[in-house]
Amino acid sequence: MISAFEGRDTKSAQLSILEEHCLLAERIDDASKQVDILFSATANQSPAEVSRVIVVLEDLLEIAREHFQHEEAEMTVNAFPGLIFHKRDHDYLIKSLMDFTSALNHGTTSLSNDMGVNLRSWLTYHIKKYDDAYVAFIGSERT
Ligand SMILES: [Fe+2]
Repeated sequence: MISAFEGRDTKSAQLSILEEHCLLAERIDDASKQVDILFSATANQSPAEVSRVIVVLEDLLEIAREHFQHEEAEMTVNAFPGLIFHKRDHDYLIKSLMDFTSALNHGTTSLSNDMGVNLRSWLTYHIKKYDDAYVAFIGSERT
């Protein structure tokens, strides 16, 4: 039997996971919009515009790292069986962000809508496939 306290714990755990994802989603959405805006603003990509995108991506990388570390630590504490696959998807995003930012820094790639589109689709897929599974696991473990 579940106590009222345990029920409240489950709800606040689910709420905190969802709130964090909303924050990350907003930041990814903001960053991808900025990439889109900068790209569509001019076909002639100036170093100043590339630098602005790099700052946005570096900020996003920091937020994503912090969020993923927190989420993975919580999954470890809760013995979530899907942790290894979930972490692999986090690592994929971090590596993609780092590679793209580094390529922009070294001038080996140019601004394009692709990064913004990729960020949005990664987030949608990650939340639907991985984060929802974790939220469901937490719910089932505590009921
Ligand atoms: Fe996640």
